[in-house]
Amino acid sequence: MRERLQKLKIKISNFKLKDMLSFKNLPLRRDKAIESAPDSDINTSFPINENARKLHPNTQHMTVLGIIEHPDSGARTLVLRKADGTSAAWFRAGQYVSVKLRIGESLVSRPYSISSSPKDTEDGRLCITVKENPGGFVADYMLGKIKEWDSLLVSGPEGQFFHDSLRDSRNVIAVAGGSGITPFLSMAAAIRDGIEDFNLTILYGSRTERSILFRKELDEIASQTDKVKVIHILSEERKPGFENGFVTADLIRKHAPDDYSLFICGPAGLYRHMEGVVSELELPSKRVRREIIGVSGKPVSAENESPDTYYDLTVIQGPETYRIKASSRETLLVAMERAGIAAPAKCRSGECGWCRSKVISGTYIVSGQNDYRRHMDKETDHIHPCVTFPDSDIVLEVPRVYN
Ligand code: FES
Repeated sequence: MRERLQKLKIKISNFKLKDMLSFKNLPLRRDKAIESAPDSDINTSFPINENARKLHPNTQHMTVLGIIEHPDSGARTLVLRKADGTSAAWFRAGQYVSVKLRIGESLVSRPYSISSSPKDTEDGRLCITVKENPGGFVADYMLGKIKEWDSLLVSGPEGQFFHDSLRDSRNVIAVAGGSGITPFLSMAAAIRDGIEDFNLTILYGSRTERSILFRKELDEIASQTDKVKVIHILSEERKPGFENGFVTADLIRKHAPDDYSLFICGPAGLYRHMEGVVSELELPSKRVRREIIGVSGKPVSAENESPDTYYDLTVIQGPETYRIKASSRETLLVAMERAGIAAPAKCRSGECGWCRSKVISGTYIVSGQNDYRRHMDKETDHIHPCVTFPDSDIVLEVPRVYN
């Protein structure tokens, strides 16, 4: 080796003794450095980390500042404010927050689109709107039990349903049904406030004129900026000044410029209806955006089974192991929430990946339309419990929740 290096004319000095001395003195130098260090705490908080925490908080402690009832629409809007009076996390108009609740023994969460303008976060405020949902015990609780000055745990802003100038056209045709108007109300307000810059035409379907949610607010914004237009469509009434029936491809063509993105938000029936409309419009898929909240459909086998099919679900979460029952008709997430297990959840639609868990054993069915898992996750039995139904006894490893 030495000969080869010499051939290459590389000189080698003998530093062995020097190296040993330096190594021997290392603890002495270290002790000296420790002794001469200032007697104060090491700075572990840097401005960039602080900003990241403000922009993307895990949890925001909020107080219900006010409640606006919408009796004809079966909905109520909660005006929330940061409990400590600081600014709420900034969001992109169209995003949602997940509200965490303890109802009886259950620990649950629900995503709600933010209906207020991002500008309101400056004084700590944001609004969410809850619509009645027959048989939905969380909606019942939010509509019947929540009152002013209650405290709520709210996640940071989440979701991809916002206008992105790199991805979307400058012209957006928004199709909304019922409480699906909330993200578009936020977008409209953001345009009026100069926070967003695109043209928004909202085609808003309601049953009757009286049941239109946020009509006054929408009309007011439309009168303040020519970038926002609102067309109301009534399905159960014929009235002058309103479109009648349902959103059709012709109606969209009537209001759309040559180039536009189609944004859709509403109940499950609206998405089913819009499938035909979208294929008739022959839009490229990148021009169609859907905000889907919740499981869009139960797998066929779960629908056909008797309601009494229950499986044993073993949940391993950190050092804890829980043994509970899970119905084949409910997602694994709902089973855990019913049992009071603090399972992670945000979108409840299979999209965000926040609830990603590992199936150790057992079989399961994933709601096909909500299966957004990566290929490798499918190969390795990682699932999103929010859209997965048990098909046998299951052992599941679930991440812990840190607030
Ligand atoms: S909560 Fe988002 S994927 Fe399950």
